[in-house]
Amino acid sequence: MMLLRSYGRKRSKYIRPYQQKLLNETLPDYRINLPDNMPMDLADYFGGKNYQSYALEIGFGDGAHLAWQAKQNPDCGFIGADPYILGVAKLLRHIDDKNLSNIRIFSDDIRYFLPFIPEASLHHIIILHPDPWPRKKHHKRRLIQPDFIDSLHHLLIDGGCLTIGTDSPCYMKWILCMMLAHTDLRWDFHKNLNGHQPQSWYEKPEIMTHYGEKAVEKGQDVWYFKFIKQ
Ligand SMILES: C[S@@+](CC[C@H](N)C(=O)[O-])C[C@H]1O[C@@H](n2cnc3c(N)ncnc32)[C@H](O)[C@@H]1O
Repeated sequence: MMLLRSYGRKRSKYIRPYQQKLLNETLPDYRINLPDNMPMDLADYFGGKNYQSYALEIGFGDGAHLAWQAKQNPDCGFIGADPYILGVAKLLRHIDDKNLSNIRIFSDDIRYFLPFIPEASLHHIIILHPDPWPRKKHHKRRLIQPDFIDSLHHLLIDGGCLTIGTDSPCYMKWILCMMLAHTDLRWDFHKNLNGHQPQSWYEKPEIMTHYGEKAVEKGQDVWYFKFIKQ
């Protein structure tokens, strides 16, 4: 299956020796390889360990948010997907530092892995600051597309939650248009940080990510949306 690239890059010139060591020696313990057959259960990706719930973060970037979530929610199994190898190395560092066992990593385009996630198995899907591809001729590269939303809807349990954050005004409108066209995902919550650091947990639906912090520092708007599968 050939997919139009939705990410900036995979490789990096700036991998340090300790990061390469993590990629060589630690990644194999956490990496999800595409299975030959559809697994019966998400626990199969966690060496058979059953978690109370499962979550997926798509485009985890430097992995700080994913590691934080995994530390806060030890009863949840987290799958993170990102093809950017330097980000994967940074996530491995967090996993090591925080001694996390409830994370698995798909180090490639999530769209290759979606067909191997059992239907209605995810409690939460998180996409924070997906690449906005602002030029009109690149809009087709945007990750949030009707087919993609259909796939995510199919993977959520009833009552499951899709969180999307963006600091791009034009992507925000695009996301809302696509999500509101999907009648089986109810718009539950949104927050615009208006360039301010969030003050409370209500205002701060998730911890800030690198891209969220950068936008807030520049005084830009940052929007978070939650949609519930009904
Ligand atoms: C703008 S960065 C945001 C990173 C992080 N979520 C944050 O808020 O700091 C977007 C990330 O999404 C990843 N990405 C883009 N397309 C993807 C895809 N199809 N599957 C998984 N990750 C993807 C990119 O590699 C990049 O790390």
